[in-house]
Amino acid sequence: MSGTEARVYLWWQKGVVYHVYPRSFQDTTGNGIGDLEGIRRRLDHLEWLGVDAVWISPVYPSPMADFGYDISDYTAIDPLFGTMEDMDRLVTEAHRRGLKVIMDLVPNHSSDQHPWFLESRSSRDNPKRDWYLWADPAPDGGPPNNWLSVFGGSAWEWDEATGQYYYHAFLREQPDLNWRNPEVQDAMLDVMRFWLDRGVDGFRVDVMWHMVKDHRLRDNPPNPDYSKDQPPYNRLLPVYSTDQPEVHDVVSMMRHLIDEYDERVLIGEIYLPIGKLVAYYGEDGSGAHLPFNFQLVELPWDAGKIYAAITEYEASLPPGGWPNWVLGNHDKSRVASRAGVEQARVAAMLLLTLRGTPTLYFGDEIGMRDGLVPPDRVRDPQALNLGDPSFSRDPQRVPMCWDDSEHAGFTTGQPWLPASPDTNEVNVEAQRDDPDSILSLHRRLLELRRQEPALQIGDYAPAGLDGNAFAFVREHADRCFLTAVNLGEAPARLRAARPTRGTVVLATDRRREGERVEGDVQVAGNQGLLVRLDS
Ligand code: NOJ
Repeated sequence: MSGTEARVYLWWQKGVVYHVYPRSFQDTTGNGIGDLEGIRRRLDHLEWLGVDAVWISPVYPSPMADFGYDISDYTAIDPLFGTMEDMDRLVTEAHRRGLKVIMDLVPNHSSDQHPWFLESRSSRDNPKRDWYLWADPAPDGGPPNNWLSVFGGSAWEWDEATGQYYYHAFLREQPDLNWRNPEVQDAMLDVMRFWLDRGVDGFRVDVMWHMVKDHRLRDNPPNPDYSKDQPPYNRLLPVYSTDQPEVHDVVSMMRHLIDEYDERVLIGEIYLPIGKLVAYYGEDGSGAHLPFNFQLVELPWDAGKIYAAITEYEASLPPGGWPNWVLGNHDKSRVASRAGVEQARVAAMLLLTLRGTPTLYFGDEIGMRDGLVPPDRVRDPQALNLGDPSFSRDPQRVPMCWDDSEHAGFTTGQPWLPASPDTNEVNVEAQRDDPDSILSLHRRLLELRRQEPALQIGDYAPAGLDGNAFAFVREHADRCFLTAVNLGEAPARLRAARPTRGTVVLATDRRREGERVEGDVQVAGNQGLLVRLDS
């Protein structure tokens, strides 16, 4: 790039993604389940908050065995969530407000009720037989190999009528599609075209690293680090059932299609160590724009570990690979529960000032904690299948808290999962006008991020670690910011590795704002500071 040529940054690089789990965001029909019209009516909140895009978990027709991640029609809307007109209206209105809409795409598996699978299982010589993964029994009549389902038990389901097993990485109601079959590839690319033509701004692709499996169906080896507190799936290392080299060809097909359209985004859900994760950017940018980076979700809330992961991640990105950070989602315990209510504020500062696209999970902006779901109300198939409520994802899926009315303003009916017990303070209405609330903190961070290219697109440089606290610098043109976060309770003093002179412009504790910083940076426990460095 020549010195005069300014690099152009796209919306998904500069912007912030807000993840909505539609069942739990806003119900407008009184059936206790959120819907598309509910999201539309709450666009005010997203616009006011200052995010740039909304990613919506699946809203396609589904028997709801896995709450929409089991799709029976990829090009329609489930009546539970509304109609195609509702979807179109949502996209149009979001666009009018300058918000992008990202759909969830689940290409790895369909519902067992999808017409493709019904045909596929109807006979061995059905033309769609090879659209799914069918295999003969092992010599002893058991499953073809030892692969396990993420949701417990063998990943193979016996089909009596045709005398073969089919593979399902998740529920038996979610058979895996055969991505080696060109007809499957064409069909799913057509699905993508359908939504892109309707104006959606991109996809978050479910379990991208699962999409291709070993051709020879070799057994997975045992995991030497397995411990009993882990889900049974972790007993084996999924070296043959996931992350196969050929998956990158599939991702590049998707990317190729995306590139036919203007400024659409391809995001991949990928739970892999950094070294393997970054391969999903593809050779010469032929892969996903944003292979989701789950370090902040997966790592213990420990300054040393997180600081090291940031360094490793930054160093591993391929040329042109744009970073991203995820703090929470519908599958993982919420940050305010994982790291604590006070740390949720620190986490917000970290998420929104690190280099790369942040993804914010709905409700985290008000500091929602995991909900309390009594045993008789557990709905998550993962917990029910494993027979262990500790694996339930329901707590992070309880309804959004809008106000302190009954069911938190989410529904006038009975919510599908109980509203949080702490809705009195933890709700949008109570926090909106409180300048000290975590909601205001998010809004102010988002506003500053939008105003300051250094925070949106600036370079990253580590600036020191001391016990529980660490700091880093973001820099663009003549603007320079230092973020200092303390992930523990004890105060910390961060040694200035370079001259640190500046003013605290934003802090998790507003009393520190306006303070001058000269030399070392003192950060109290559970505190985060954003310092604008003198130029
Ligand atoms: C990942 C999704 O986020 C999760 O909710 C779902 O259960 C699995 N993929 C299977 O689709």
